[in-house]
Amino acid sequence: MILPVVAYGHPILRKISEEIDESYPKLHELIANMYETMYYSVGVGLAAPQVGLNIRLFIIDASPIMDDEEEKKNAKKVFINPEIIEEEGEEWAYNEGCLSIPEIHEDVIRKPRIHIDYFDENFNHHDEWIDGINARVIQHEYDHLEGTLFVDKINTLKKTLLRRRLHDITKGVTGAKYKMIFPAKKKIR
Ligand code: CO
Repeated sequence: MILPVVAYGHPILRKISEEIDESYPKLHELIANMYETMYYSVGVGLAAPQVGLNIRLFIIDASPIMDDEEEKKNAKKVFINPEIIEEEGEEWAYNEGCLSIPEIHEDVIRKPRIHIDYFDENFNHHDEWIDGINARVIQHEYDHLEGTLFVDKINTLKKTLLRRRLHDITKGVTGAKYKMIFPAKKKIR
């Protein structure tokens, strides 16, 4: 089932999400729905707050933006209760976007390598170092669990220039082709 995506400006996107355990109801169904929603919306990652749930869960599949065939094989992953323990390497810029902030793309500076601890969809524990595009997408999705969005990480001047467009998104003024929940949309009488 395709779920509506929560748009920029909604308070759900600003909360710190809570950990879950194996007893979380219909977890596999939720993950399947999140994948369906992400592929339909042509995203490479989706965090639970973006579908209205403040739980520490996100999914990724960055294969559409990868060149390396080996890297693509390892691109589809589920992260539950993740913790980024450390990040290292020389910071690099990458043009990020977000399904909650349609049609806006900006360069964000982050470190290239992360050490992350997490559980997968079967609650198997993992402790890994990840780099490249996967690390980048994970950092972006992980931020969602902390109530942070990529536009918080761009410089003040760029953010000022985007202010009108961000405000439009909150009101539902966007060309997004997928279903969204807008915080400030006026009801049509
Ligand atoms: Co995002």
